[in-house]
Amino acid sequence: MYGDAQSAIMSTVDLEELPGVGPATADKLREAGFDSYQGLAVASPGELSNTADVGESTAADIIQAAREAADIGGFESGSDVLERREQIGKLSWGVEEIDDLLGGGVETQSITEVYGEFGSGKSQVTHQLSVNVQLPEEHGGLDGSAVFVDSEDTFRPERIDDMIRGLPDEVIADSLDAREIEGEPGDDEAMEALLESFLDRIHVAKAFNSNHQMLLAEKAKELASEYEDSEHPVRLLCVDSLTAHFRAEYVGRGELAQRQQKLNKHLHDLMRVGDLYNTAVLVTNQVSANPDAFFGDPTQPIGGNILGHTSTFRMYLRKSKGDKRIVRLVDAPNLPDGEAVMRIEGGGLMAE
Ligand code: GTP
Ligand code: MG
Repeated sequence: MYGDAQSAIMSTVDLEELPGVGPATADKLREAGFDSYQGLAVASPGELSNTADVGESTAADIIQAAREAADIGGFESGSDVLERREQIGKLSWGVEEIDDLLGGGVETQSITEVYGEFGSGKSQVTHQLSVNVQLPEEHGGLDGSAVFVDSEDTFRPERIDDMIRGLPDEVIADSLDAREIEGEPGDDEAMEALLESFLDRIHVAKAFNSNHQMLLAEKAKELASEYEDSEHPVRLLCVDSLTAHFRAEYVGRGELAQRQQKLNKHLHDLMRVGDLYNTAVLVTNQVSANPDAFFGDPTQPIGGNILGHTSTFRMYLRKSKGDKRIVRLVDAPNLPDGEAVMRIEGGGLMAE
């Protein structure tokens, strides 16, 4: 699914060959980010009908034809499922106890939600994983690039610098080699070149509001498609924070349904990137701080049920003494709930 066959389909896609799609509809579809049969094949009729201004039954026909053209969407054999699952990569936090909790690390083809109160370390996790994803597999990485959708102006290159310097010397030495940078761990020039090389493989975009953030999910898909066959495919898509804009813009109870619907679409767009390009999707979420809020329990992530059902792994971060953080796995398929401890140090996330 991630190989040559797919890129062949994607490069020759002609939406106007689909039934009921004229030039105007094709333009609307492309504008909305539906530029491949794969994307259309996994859309819902309601979603397509809204974005392309076609009736629901036409939308259903388009989806069906796209599924046939892309040869996906129907039943697949157990061995196809196995083959796809065999491609799932596991991305290490660099903290053994947490990787163990996760059965190896953050999975590609899944959404992982990290939630917790302010200062609990959510943004630190997104930074650390944007570094780790670039490491070779023997050091817990996926030899990939990262896409970082930043909705709270939280991305800090300086933090990436700290975290690279905080890697074990052996990992730094191997990274220098892999990037053909001359010098030893700790050499000023070598470390600067290394930082630049890591930053080059983190694609950051600021989201100014929720609509812009949704658009950036589409852009992320384009980037993932562009890098699919490169040496460093997009293996991590971070959204920090997933919910802040939605929460700020849709305030009253009357707007709750609309907010959930938008969030739902956004999550499905993100999931699609994960599925199509074998990417780990990592989203952050705050807990409700207002005891009178609609979601009243202050230990509950905001976003309610939709988020709960869509994210595959949910992790709850809690402050403990000093730089200690307790990481709780709240919900995961085939894994027991449990807790692990880490520290947030100058050099990044560390074992206790
Ligand atoms: P909100 O986005 O406000 O909800 O918080 P968050 O969960 O994203 O918290 P964040 O990841 O920003 O964590 C902030 C905490 O990380 C700080 O309270 C520090 O404990 C730690 N931290 C951040 N930067 C550094 C640093 O440069 N050095 C050290 N030692 N710790 C840091
Ligand atoms: Mg943050």
